[in-house]
Amino acid sequence: MKSNPDIKKAVRQHAEMAEFFSGGLTVKTNSPALQPPQQTTRQPCSPETIKELEDIAEQTRKCRKCELGSLRKNAVPGEGNTSARIMFVGEAPGADEDTQGRPFVGRAGQLLDKIIAACGLKRQDVWIGNILKCRPPDNRDPKPEEIIACIPYLQRQIELINPEIIVALGAHAAKTLLDTPKAIGQLRGMFHEYTPGLGHKPIKLMPTFHPAYLLRNYSDDNRRKVWEDMKKVLAELGLPVPEKTGK
Ligand code: URA
Repeated sequence: MKSNPDIKKAVRQHAEMAEFFSGGLTVKTNSPALQPPQQTTRQPCSPETIKELEDIAEQTRKCRKCELGSLRKNAVPGEGNTSARIMFVGEAPGADEDTQGRPFVGRAGQLLDKIIAACGLKRQDVWIGNILKCRPPDNRDPKPEEIIACIPYLQRQIELINPEIIVALGAHAAKTLLDTPKAIGQLRGMFHEYTPGLGHKPIKLMPTFHPAYLLRNYSDDNRRKVWEDMKKVLAELGLPVPEKTGK
């Protein structure tokens, strides 16, 4: 039986993408012994903060503020290190996330894991969430009324975790958090500011392409752009910036 060239191409592209974000990257350092320990997280947050974050997660599991509440298998409140310096915010759960109640666990999530690893970080170092806590049917775009109903959960999670940098994955996350109609291509590549609420100091926000977009629009140029964005995040945090040593 002849194999489908499109499937073969997609498999090859996926393997190359994984290689780009997992292979051939080394951290340029003088001597590891001279390097200060990497500060990937901040001071642990208070028991009260952790309790409130758990309460928010519980509220999202019971939420019926929009129609998605009656369509989901599981809400996906977000997860990760509550003392994270970096917070990743995506669009909305997909089918795998809806099944497991965890963010970014499908194909796009596997690529996000590779990007995080390429940064010299672990998934446990960061916090990962979404604009919407429930899956839109057939992965359609979030509706404005769904974003309006859901966004207070994320806003409070950001206030409580108070990361130093938010990485907005894709157009929906970037446009929602920055309250702008600008395209992701115009927004990415530079820091913006997200202001959680009155009296809270702004948090730096780096928009970049969504991993699912990268998988669909595979090109060296797009992969490089995401990597350039992440290098800026690491430099801003004073973390070692891995250099690509391979081809
Ligand atoms: N895409 C998203 O935006 N979020 C997820 O959690 C998974 C895929």
